[in-house]
Amino acid sequence: MVRASLDDVRRRVVGIDAEVTLLDGSKRPYINFDNASTTPCLGRVLERTAEFLRWYGSVGRGAGFKSDVSTTAMSDARASLASFVGADLAAHTVIFTKNTTEALNKLAHRFPFAAGDVVLCSLMEHHSNDLPWRAAAEVERIGIDRTGRLDLMHLERQLGKLGGRVRLVGVTGGSNVTGYINPIHDIAEMAHAAGAQVVVDAAQLAAHRTIQMGPAGGARSIDYLAFAGHKMYAPFGVGVLVGLKEAFLSYDFDMVGGGTVDLVTLNDTQWSGLPAREEAGSLNAVGIVALAEAAWCLQEIGLDRIAEHEAALTARFLRGLHEIDGIIVHGDDDPDRATERLGVVPFEVRGMPHQLVAAILAAEGGIGVRTGLFCSHPYMLEVMDYGTARVAGLKKELAAGVRAKLPGFTRVSFGLYNTELEVDALLDLLVRLASGRYAGEYTQDLASGAFHAKGHARGVEDAFALGR
Ligand SMILES: Cc1ncc(COP(=O)(O)O)c(C=O)c1O
Repeated sequence: MVRASLDDVRRRVVGIDAEVTLLDGSKRPYINFDNASTTPCLGRVLERTAEFLRWYGSVGRGAGFKSDVSTTAMSDARASLASFVGADLAAHTVIFTKNTTEALNKLAHRFPFAAGDVVLCSLMEHHSNDLPWRAAAEVERIGIDRTGRLDLMHLERQLGKLGGRVRLVGVTGGSNVTGYINPIHDIAEMAHAAGAQVVVDAAQLAAHRTIQMGPAGGARSIDYLAFAGHKMYAPFGVGVLVGLKEAFLSYDFDMVGGGTVDLVTLNDTQWSGLPAREEAGSLNAVGIVALAEAAWCLQEIGLDRIAEHEAALTARFLRGLHEIDGIIVHGDDDPDRATERLGVVPFEVRGMPHQLVAAILAAEGGIGVRTGLFCSHPYMLEVMDYGTARVAGLKKELAAGVRAKLPGFTRVSFGLYNTELEVDALLDLLVRLASGRYAGEYTQDLASGAFHAKGHARGVEDAFALGR
């Protein structure tokens, strides 16, 4: 098999040549360094999805040819996504949702918790792998160390202290804030030894590392896994929950309706088997095909090759940041360890609000990044060492509708298609920005906290407007 080069893959990324207007009126291809939020669509994913649309029909309900094609595509997609994460369809089920958040909420709702059960959740989690558990069980925490890494000794102590009450340990595969990769199989081993199961939020991991859940019931296997297409080059509204069938045996469904039943009378209901009874209503067949194609593409490109490329970009970026006065990198800032982490780099420019940094990068460089607290408030507050008094002040401001002083970092996150030239363009602009040599005059909107450059005709409506 001849593998496409990453340059070829890049050339075909949908929208890679889209130009944006900078503050000085010039145009420049947009540089997307916000891949941890969402990724663009791969060319092949779009083409294959368009091809599928020719044969699109009702899934599992119709009797025509297109219906058969679509139904077959769904079962093929399930099988190929199971294989993508090393799951075994005899013991695991693959449930489609609309995103990672819905997948984790579904597990939180469906997991057979009993009174007093504990979910041991890391402090590093995105809200989507935190809030659902608070609603479902008692939540205890796995702490982090001084560098923001997960504290495995604390996990050990917590498992010991909480005895057999821990039913589930919830960790992210990779942090959307610091890019740290957690040793999920070691964690699974520790959880299993204490009689608990493990759920991994793989939203950040799926497009960057090979995942092997392992045999059902294995000492080091992952029991439940959630991820989504929009962070792996298939932004068509599909997430996946892969997990042991045993969690979905009760009839206390989170949603019921069409597609979940074999027979309904006025008095009773005969439920379908798994996974149909967990997927109420019509499936997002187009999104599912896109996601399965994306998984196929990532495997063909090679996740090792992707990891290596993104690590090279991360190392280059970190080296460049070290050269700039006034930049503070958070988490691990060692370029030599770039292969051990995801290409997610949070930093601050001393004395400059994070929202202003983002606004300058956008207006003067055509560069998209993310800023703020990254939907990981407990982790960020801990990493920023933001004490209770400051949190109380912040709460007051937010209650008054003011987000201007919301703390946070600027985050750059790399994807397989980003290039060294793009990293260098970012570094060049950061050099100017950190020494106060930026061109625009920026004002802040107090309610949203966002900064806007005076006189910047961005042409947002010209880029895309519905119904034109
Ligand atoms: C680690 C992590 N988990 C969960 C989510 C939520 O993912 P989704 O938008 O697919 O629900 C995100 C999104 O940024 C994330 O980074």
